[in-house]
Amino acid sequence: MNAIPNQHTAERLFSGPIGEEYEKLKLICPAAADMSRRVGEYLADWLQGRAAPETVLELGCGTGVTTAALLAAIGRASLTSVDSEPTMLAQARANLAAWIDAGQLRVVENDALSFLRAQPAGSADAIASAFTLHNFMDGYRIEVLGEIFRVLKPGGLFVNGDRYGLDDTLEHTRLIQEEVKQYFKTFRELNQLDLLEHWIVHLFSDESPDRVMRLAPALERMAAAGFRPATVHYRHEVNALVTGIKP
Ligand SMILES: C[S@@+](CC[C@H](N)C(=O)[O-])C[C@H]1O[C@@H](n2cnc3c(N)ncnc32)[C@H](O)[C@@H]1O
Repeated sequence: MNAIPNQHTAERLFSGPIGEEYEKLKLICPAAADMSRRVGEYLADWLQGRAAPETVLELGCGTGVTTAALLAAIGRASLTSVDSEPTMLAQARANLAAWIDAGQLRVVENDALSFLRAQPAGSADAIASAFTLHNFMDGYRIEVLGEIFRVLKPGGLFVNGDRYGLDDTLEHTRLIQEEVKQYFKTFRELNQLDLLEHWIVHLFSDESPDRVMRLAPALERMAAAGFRPATVHYRHEVNALVTGIKP
């Protein structure tokens, strides 16, 4: 069960049953796989007409759903994906073994902030992520954004498909209530009330004031980090596809 965090280091939100049975996410959040596809497609479109990228990084690869979309986007270039959770990484390594064996994908166990701090300034063409930054505590997320900006080359792309809370808090609460109903429906049918409990607790931490990533403040934070522009390309319920360019 998730402990209440008290520090700005990586937490282990995916270490237990949620991580072990992460494939159940597609039942409670069918929009997640669609967002992974959109992140990959956005990167592919952005790369059109540019020189092949030398360095593409992914933060929070999980079991590799978005990683696969990124690999499709970058053609023969290589990708380095980081995640802090061994339970998730073991699945990513199994799901993406062909790319790892071919030397096209490097999977690193580390937390996003420590990983970024170890990268040279101005070294990455693009940094991608999906459904990872919303898990961060606010202070940690601000530090990560600053590091993403530092590590990108001038002209580099940050693309993030994630939970971005609605600035209309009443509508946001209504959508979260619908989500909770979907969790109950799914896990009742599967007779997995243990997993239901874990996902509800997880949702509470996503929604906590120290963590919830609302869209307007998130864009302001990106602008404060230096991104010009920070743009929303797609919005569906509590999810959004957001990009930032380092000038
Ligand atoms: C909701 S999953 C999303 C996985 C994947 N991006 C996808 O689209 O399916 C979030 C992932 O972020 C990882 N994560 C959470 N906090 C992290 C941190 N501080 N550093 C690195 N990875 C982190 C978790 O271990 C988990 O695998």
